[in-house]
Amino acid sequence: MEAIDTLCLKDTKEDLEKAAEIIKNGGLVAFPTETVYGLGADGTNPEAVKKIYEAKGRPSDNPTIVHIADKEDLDNLTTLVSKDMRILMDAFWPGPLTMVITKPDEIPYVTTGNLETVGVRMPENKIARDFIRASGTSIAAPSANISGRPSPTTAQHVMDDLGGRIDAIIQGGECKIGIESTVVDMTGEIPMILRPGYITKEDIERVLRKPILIDPTLNRKPSKDGNFKPKAPGMKYKHYAPNADMIIFRGDPEHVAASIDKERIEREGLGQNVYIISFDPNKPVLAAHEIFAQLRAADKGKADVILAAALPQKGLGFAVMNRMLKSAGFNIVEV
Ligand code: TXA
Ligand code: MG
Repeated sequence: MEAIDTLCLKDTKEDLEKAAEIIKNGGLVAFPTETVYGLGADGTNPEAVKKIYEAKGRPSDNPTIVHIADKEDLDNLTTLVSKDMRILMDAFWPGPLTMVITKPDEIPYVTTGNLETVGVRMPENKIARDFIRASGTSIAAPSANISGRPSPTTAQHVMDDLGGRIDAIIQGGECKIGIESTVVDMTGEIPMILRPGYITKEDIERVLRKPILIDPTLNRKPSKDGNFKPKAPGMKYKHYAPNADMIIFRGDPEHVAASIDKERIEREGLGQNVYIISFDPNKPVLAAHEIFAQLRAADKGKADVILAAALPQKGLGFAVMNRMLKSAGFNIVEV
């Protein structure tokens, strides 16, 4: 791929218009959201969406999420808005929830990785929504990282991965939440969580007033018998992988701390560069905010190994552990 100049834009009216112009001309613009930075293209323009896959090196069967600015945009996309969808929109939009719905004709198959369904999300971030609105279309946007790398939570992370490969980035500081949206499939009889995120299963069940499903493959080590088929295509790929090896220690907090320390001393004795990730187990919000930045910091510091403390897999902790388990290739030690 030939290097291009990546324009750095701010959230001024003038710059957002420049960004919108790039989108209308079929180009790529990275933008901040409350979860992670997204890499946007006109979701209705197949040629533009193809460029997303090229820039990221993303497998073409991994669908992108379509981003809208206002709730009305969903009614313009589809006539099939169920009662449950309405309830979830009212409770969680704008915000970190993606709903998988039947694909409208207007959205081409490149955008959905050839699926008959599409994920739709209305972000809360004001810059994101002003940019989408100015573009006058639905914005297809995966996370703005090279495929397989940790998701970007600052403009610098995006530039580190995609500088010279995309037309522009709108700078918007650090992402508030830090892990990607909850993806929930609304096409079946009972909604099913395909990717855990800030909005938890319990949050959704509380507003729908009924139990929902969760993809049973989530947070399970992939089996070798070929039966491991997550429902969200992206969940099967190697993901969030730092260059360093990563080991997660799980158990009583004191044992975990002692085991990490022992491992660190041994490895440093062998001349290895060790990076430790240890969040307060009672502060999953902080862990979500930090996890991707820490994985990237470990790489920048040329760590040979990352030693991480597990979080309790409840509430938001389940979503953060989902990212950590994948980063570590499910390399977990019980202590
Ligand atoms: O928070 C987010 O969702 C961020 C920001 C930029 O909005 N976007 C994001 O996109 O994380 P991406 O492409 O990195 O992850 C989308 C995930 C993938 O695992 C994909 O397989 C799944 O959502 N997905 C998208 N459309 C789907 C569909 N129609 N059916 C099943 N899974 C879908
Ligand atoms: Mg991603």
